[in-house]
Amino acid sequence: MSNFKILPSILAADHGLFVEEAKSVGKETDMLHIDVMDGHFVPNITFGPKVVSSLKKNTAYALDVHLMIEQVDSYTPVFAEAGADIITIHQEATVHLHRSLNLIRSFGIKSGVALNPATSLNTLEWVIDEVDLVCIMSVNPGFGGQKFIESSIDKIRALDAIRRDRHLSFIIEVDGGVDVKTAPLVHQAGADYLVAGSAVFGQPDRSEAIRNIRQSIEKSSGRSDTIFV
Ligand code: DX5
Ligand code: ZN
Repeated sequence: MSNFKILPSILAADHGLFVEEAKSVGKETDMLHIDVMDGHFVPNITFGPKVVSSLKKNTAYALDVHLMIEQVDSYTPVFAEAGADIITIHQEATVHLHRSLNLIRSFGIKSGVALNPATSLNTLEWVIDEVDLVCIMSVNPGFGGQKFIESSIDKIRALDAIRRDRHLSFIIEVDGGVDVKTAPLVHQAGADYLVAGSAVFGQPDRSEAIRNIRQSIEKSSGRSDTIFV
């Protein structure tokens, strides 16, 4: 798949200025990635639905909400109501994944499932046609700025092969350690949505940072006519 999207993760932004930080991304993308952490599923706490509703109200970006929390079914309605366009839950966080994914879709939004680096693609075998997005975690979730785990590239490639074999069209997202070096590799392997936290918000010019990631992909694929927000 040649089209792709770069999703800035506001985890790496200034948490006192979410709306201003989001706007600093400009028109280089049309979707933000929102990392919700509860201090239980992962050893970190971020923010809740109020931040999502504030971004919805004050910006025009679509919102990709990544729930790194337990009790996913209790919070799906809350984040859907707050304005999430995609809700991604962790395979490892719910016993009833099929039910949880269908609950997300019942709100008329896209359902996503994320896999930790140690979790096999096989765990999705019987739900893969219930998902709109599969997020391959290329770091262990919980913190921004971690080192990209190389084996994620093969995992993305294997997931892309499953997608082709089964004639499915779910989005493949990659989350963690995406920058100008790793972006071309994950895109070539089959990733459509590339989440980038520190590589965007760690730079003074966020628009330029996104452009640089995009150009690294275009350069490596030898074309500049694809795109893309
Ligand atoms: C990690 C989060 C990521 C994080 C990525 O738990 O899910 O979305 O923001 O950050 P970087 O791009 O800095 O690795
Ligand atoms: Zn994330």
